[in-house]
Amino acid sequence: MNKMKIFCWLFLLCISQNLLAKDNRDRPLYKEASAPVEKRIDDLLSRMTLEEKVYQLNQYTAGRNNNINNVGEVEKVPAEIGSLIYFGSDSQLRNKLQRKAMEESRLGIPILFGYDVIHGFRTIYPISLGQACSWSPELVKKSCAVAAQEARRSGLDWTFSPMIDVARDGRWGRASEGYGEDPYTNAVFCVASVEGYQGGDMSNNQKIAACLKHYVGYGASEGGRDYVATEISRATLWNTYMPPYEAGVKAGAATLMSAFNDISGVPATSNHYTLTDVLKERWKHDGFVVSDWCAVEQLIPQGVAATKKEAALKSFMAGVEMDMLDNCYLKYLPELVNEGKVPVEKVDDAVKRVLRIKFRLGLFENPYTPESSEKERFLLPENLKTVENLAEESMVLLKNENKTLPLSQTSRIALIGPMAMDKENLLGAWFAHGEAQDVVSIYEGVQAEFKKSEVLYAKGCDFEGNDTTGFAEAFRVARKADIVLLCLGEKRKWSGENASRSTLALPHIQEKLVLELKKLGKPIVLLFSNGRPLELCRIEPAGSAIVELWQPGVMGGKAIAGILSGRVNPSGKLSMTFPYSTGQIPIYYSMRQSARPNQGKYQDIPNVPLYEFAYGLSYTTFQYGDLKANQTTLKRGDKLVLEIPVTNVGDRDGAETVHWFVSDPSCSISRPIKELKYFEKQVLKAGETKVFRFEVDLMRDFGYFDESGTRFLESGDYYISVKDKKLKVELTD
Ligand code: GLC
Repeated sequence: MNKMKIFCWLFLLCISQNLLAKDNRDRPLYKEASAPVEKRIDDLLSRMTLEEKVYQLNQYTAGRNNNINNVGEVEKVPAEIGSLIYFGSDSQLRNKLQRKAMEESRLGIPILFGYDVIHGFRTIYPISLGQACSWSPELVKKSCAVAAQEARRSGLDWTFSPMIDVARDGRWGRASEGYGEDPYTNAVFCVASVEGYQGGDMSNNQKIAACLKHYVGYGASEGGRDYVATEISRATLWNTYMPPYEAGVKAGAATLMSAFNDISGVPATSNHYTLTDVLKERWKHDGFVVSDWCAVEQLIPQGVAATKKEAALKSFMAGVEMDMLDNCYLKYLPELVNEGKVPVEKVDDAVKRVLRIKFRLGLFENPYTPESSEKERFLLPENLKTVENLAEESMVLLKNENKTLPLSQTSRIALIGPMAMDKENLLGAWFAHGEAQDVVSIYEGVQAEFKKSEVLYAKGCDFEGNDTTGFAEAFRVARKADIVLLCLGEKRKWSGENASRSTLALPHIQEKLVLELKKLGKPIVLLFSNGRPLELCRIEPAGSAIVELWQPGVMGGKAIAGILSGRVNPSGKLSMTFPYSTGQIPIYYSMRQSARPNQGKYQDIPNVPLYEFAYGLSYTTFQYGDLKANQTTLKRGDKLVLEIPVTNVGDRDGAETVHWFVSDPSCSISRPIKELKYFEKQVLKAGETKVFRFEVDLMRDFGYFDESGTRFLESGDYYISVKDKKLKVELTD
């Protein structure tokens, strides 16, 4: 009997092994998780029809928004679509759409779900312009990891972030979305963001693919108006706008987004030089480029295409792999291939790039998002702490006369202004699924921080308009107080996309409230929440102290309260210059030297900014010692190590960022007065001295790009400056 049993078991085992082997033999290679990605891509591509390939190069929308392109209902979305902009905040609709792709399409290629997770998904943290003022890449990386975790668990695989457009004109609403006026700063925070979003392995279900945008030169939009042309020389393209993208590509960014702007006559979305010569051939980027929203079709108003078909041809042949929303590729690529105008090999290369990212995200093995409750994935305590820290470190103390701040715990505080109780505007533009209810307002933060104080409140006025009827109550409250915290700033819609403003000044009603309150003779602390540098020349004198909050996100009120009470020592420094007035624009720290440095100035205003790049105060004082170099005469290949001791001579601990600038006053091309090449932030205890060190890479830090993007390092004198310290080194041949 036993023998019979054994025989039966062996027989069944043999059958099952054969079936398994047959199944594996029939199972296509691209579905084999253990196979190399490139082999899986080739196998899958070999099975695809032209129509299926073209679908992979298209992106629709799905979910809550009412965009005309929104084909949100499941039945309307083709099962073969390559990507969707997903407006949902949970995984249900995503999984429904994905199931359609996996089960109803012939090959079961998963959809890639993207969205604008710019500074948080639901746990919103400071806008990028503020993040850069923290000079804390690690903290930004952690915050991006929080955003990735919430986004992936809510149905997304891909974010259209980081935005790394160097911006020097605050009239441009999108300056809020990038890391300020400096190329190196944008590069450092770009890398931190990419690492935070993608981590080392994008198939991790807490990570998402990044997207460097808007490639390239969008921040040079003339007059700060959005969507307009930009005039950028090749040398400026390489020395100013390209460095953050090169850094991001080297950091492994999965995708890029082509920009709306025209680059000196060639739109970014049909620019073969930037999209293919540089990005693919020189930098060897192996991911893909998605166009910005309808940017392919917009080649028509930009004057380089007469029809959508021509726009599709120009954009695709230039090197944009995926078409966002305007269906130009879907409608015309097959025709263009059949007409021989688009080589099928180029379509294949584009599809391979899209599939590569899908495989790296693990979507073939895990196409669906595990269900989770909002409580399980949003606003987790440890994540709130992270974004609170970033908000604290992003805020900049701009003025503090006679140590007005920090406030004593027993003050009678008058909290006045349209931002005092406001929640939604602290979220800033591009707030994804952030909700005003999640935000700690300034009023709530101050109430909680100053338990022994009496906190009075009056709105005083709206953000804009001419209604001064609230002034009387504001004066009444102010008269009763020891100190006035005047909370002003911008609505979140005043910055971000399509949000250009002709002036950096706040609306007159807000300035009027400041100047009227000043007449009462009470000390005033000006608190600003805004998405761009402000024109403060008329109201700055009224503030005994001034703090720039930026749009700090959900923990903003608690962060500023900590600074006001002294629980937090402010450490932020500006990532973008605050001009004296709008008329000074363009004004930024790394301008080129004038032919007549002491002439040619405005006759009617000062010719220095109100607050310069990298400016910011602390509650303690840092004393800089002598700047030293291991050698001051160098030859190529030598190692240059610079050091400077910094001492906290105050009576409380504090964090200090040391900015290292390089100048090359005599070169084949005229170079900026100085350029930031390194920064480092460290905490110094009261009385402590730390040595800050910069190891110079001569080509990287002293060199420059010529118009071909070739780096040059010339012999001659170079100057390194830190604060008011300056050191000359000579590079011999
Ligand atoms: C917008 C923006 C871009 C965004 C995209 C998708 O027009 O320019 O930054 O990522 O469309 O929303």
